[in-house]
Amino acid sequence: MQLVKTVAAMQRLARQWRRAVTQIGFVPTMGYLHEGHLSLVKRARRAVAKNGRVVVSIYVNPTQFGPKEDLASYPRDLKRDLKLCRAAGVDAVFAPADAEMYRSDFSTCVVEEKLSRTMEGVSRPAHFRGVATVVAKLFNIVRPDVAIFGQKDFQQAAIIKRMVADLNFPVKIIVAPTLRERDGLAMSSRNRYLDPEQRAQAVILYHALNAAKAAVRRKPTSAGKMKTDIKRFITAAPLARLDYVEFFDPETLRTVSEVKTGMHMALAVFVGKTRLIDNAPL
Ligand code: PAJ
Repeated sequence: MQLVKTVAAMQRLARQWRRAVTQIGFVPTMGYLHEGHLSLVKRARRAVAKNGRVVVSIYVNPTQFGPKEDLASYPRDLKRDLKLCRAAGVDAVFAPADAEMYRSDFSTCVVEEKLSRTMEGVSRPAHFRGVATVVAKLFNIVRPDVAIFGQKDFQQAAIIKRMVADLNFPVKIIVAPTLRERDGLAMSSRNRYLDPEQRAQAVILYHALNAAKAAVRRKPTSAGKMKTDIKRFITAAPLARLDYVEFFDPETLRTVSEVKTGMHMALAVFVGKTRLIDNAPL
């Protein structure tokens, strides 16, 4: 496995592989890898031809964090990540420094203007601009044939798909299922912030998704009533505070007024100071 730290070296490697007609599968991450990330690596391996190569990027992208968010404290452990990648059969890890990714006079961004306006985009105003920009940069650096994103970040995956279609990136996007802990909590690098009591209550997001699923299977319900019910449901976990819950069409991300089976639910919940997100089809 190669560890690549500069843009020039990664572009050179990608050029070499592409000249040899080797497919490149790509998994962008911010590191502190867990089983969820590794499931995307497996999916990437399956997606490329037999002699294909799998690249994982590990980069805590500063432009997607708000001024009051957890950029400084975001967990980092490159040594452990490299070990996990090696064991997972990754061919190259691209782990650039900030100065390598953003020149001091950097002034160009990618902004998706429709799907970014709801949910995470409301709570985290510049977040998707940072995500789209860094993913566009990473696509130009790694030159993948296929890139894998997790359904865990449903809105992010939808925005990346839209960006790729709108800007004609020659890359296929695959969205892979959310891996969960045994109790149902979606795996996330941020789970590490939780103390034992918070960790026990964090499963409330998963239970809320299941409760909503059961409710709409009984009968279609107005989004207003569903929101009130979910808000009340979350109060069962005293350390949890609902940031938002939305019900929407999974294709367009447009919110719906009546919630039925087949529609999608997403929510963000603070557990202590840690902000967790989850989503599922109903
Ligand atoms: P990060 O949060 O590290 O996630 C990297 C990828 O792993 C994303 O596609 C995310 O959806 C996926 N993922 C996270 N938890 C998962 C789980 N429990 N099961 C399956 N997949 C999971 O998302 C980012 O980084 C960044 O925004 C990035 C795209 C790298 C741009 O900086």
